[in-house]
Amino acid sequence: MSSASDNQLANKAQAWSALFSEPMSDLVKRYTASVFFDKRLWKADIQGSLAHAEMLNAQGILGAEDLAAIQRGMAQIKGEIEAGSFEWKLDLEDVHLNIEARLTELVGIAGKRLHTGRSRNDQVATDVRLWLRDEIDELTQLLSALQLALVEVAEKNAEVILPGFTHLQVAQPVAFGHHLLAYVEMFARDAERLGDARRRVNRLPLGAAALAGTSYPLDRERVAKTLGMEGVCQNSLDAVSDRDFAIEFSAAAALVMVHISRLSEELILWMSQSFGFIDLADRFCTGSSIMPQKKNPDVPELARGKTGRVVGHLMGLITLMKGQPLAYNKDNQEDKEPLFDTVDTLKDTLRIFAEMMGGLTVKPEAMERAALKGYATATDLADYLVKKGLAFRDAHEIVAHAVKTAIQQGVDLSQLPLAELQKFDARIDADVFELLSLRGSLNARNILGGTAPAQVRAQVARHKARLGG
Ligand code: ARG
Repeated sequence: MSSASDNQLANKAQAWSALFSEPMSDLVKRYTASVFFDKRLWKADIQGSLAHAEMLNAQGILGAEDLAAIQRGMAQIKGEIEAGSFEWKLDLEDVHLNIEARLTELVGIAGKRLHTGRSRNDQVATDVRLWLRDEIDELTQLLSALQLALVEVAEKNAEVILPGFTHLQVAQPVAFGHHLLAYVEMFARDAERLGDARRRVNRLPLGAAALAGTSYPLDRERVAKTLGMEGVCQNSLDAVSDRDFAIEFSAAAALVMVHISRLSEELILWMSQSFGFIDLADRFCTGSSIMPQKKNPDVPELARGKTGRVVGHLMGLITLMKGQPLAYNKDNQEDKEPLFDTVDTLKDTLRIFAEMMGGLTVKPEAMERAALKGYATATDLADYLVKKGLAFRDAHEIVAHAVKTAIQQGVDLSQLPLAELQKFDARIDADVFELLSLRGSLNARNILGGTAPAQVRAQVARHKARLGG
């Protein structure tokens, strides 16, 4: 077993190698170090190292004793990190050198052999990919949970009517369940996008070494298999340098947040006194330090705000990449903080939204009252006339006159007497009143993707089967 003094890595406090005549300045050390954020990759780093060592042994490059020593050392390091007793050193720059130095401290020369045929360049690219793959799996589960929560609220509200808006002007009545299922579609696509990005995340850079590959007869396919990866990066320069997989992930993550943000905006509007459509459980809201009557929708507001931060990370990552010549450049160390923060923000947000949507209080009377305000069934009257033989454009014009009269009288279309309606077109009959009602209008849209409660129920069933709910 070697002492710390013949562990070159542990001695980095002095100088990088015999080539250097002076140590790094403290400021440069702090500037270049990543250990205080990339230590988060420790599990992936150990996982990758163990797969590499096992392959080195299988290829006859590393002896069985050395492999056993490395496995033993890594098990101890894992225990130390989990127990919080592992001493992370700024002098050792990053997670990779910290773990390797500790390994050598624990098992001696075998630790020094681990890095055979490997570089931190292919090592870090592997670590980030392994870590991100697992995070994508967790995010996919959280997206499912949120979808299920929304589907359940949608099911309970298949018959509840609220005004559907275009331009935030009352347009046509829709079922609240239908409205919520629109978000389920968005989150389902988000999950698909993450799954698609995962395929490209889950490929192995190890074996690319610093940039050109290695002269050792490594079995890269074997390492990929051990790590559960779907393939091996086929060009060493590309393998160590591109972070497009992280950018793709961030783009998918930014879209998740954009969808969350749209939902947030609606929740905030709906909870305002002017709408009064919903209430959020108190545990998701805060009060005001000065206005005793206030209950503020802080969670959706913050989620809307955090969307800016996640979109910003996407901009950061994509800009990070654009000027880099092949192959690895230290710029890439800057990929981690935005990625980590993106994952953390998404995980918290998705968890909190699944819970919050599950506890939503819906106020059907207020929704319905609002739907009655804006002549939301005018299109239904036009459609009625078309079915009586009018051209749609003519029907549209006739109904505009009817709406104008109703506005002048301060009543809804359905409150105009039949005789009055017949002045606009003699073909109008008493059966029109069913269509002019909110419920009649809703039921009429019984088409795939439409808002009729029967369609909403069919979609709920489809989503439940898909999500296993
Ligand atoms: N901490 C570095 C990173 O995050 C690891 C790779 C360093 N490689 C190098 N040649 N300096 O990218």
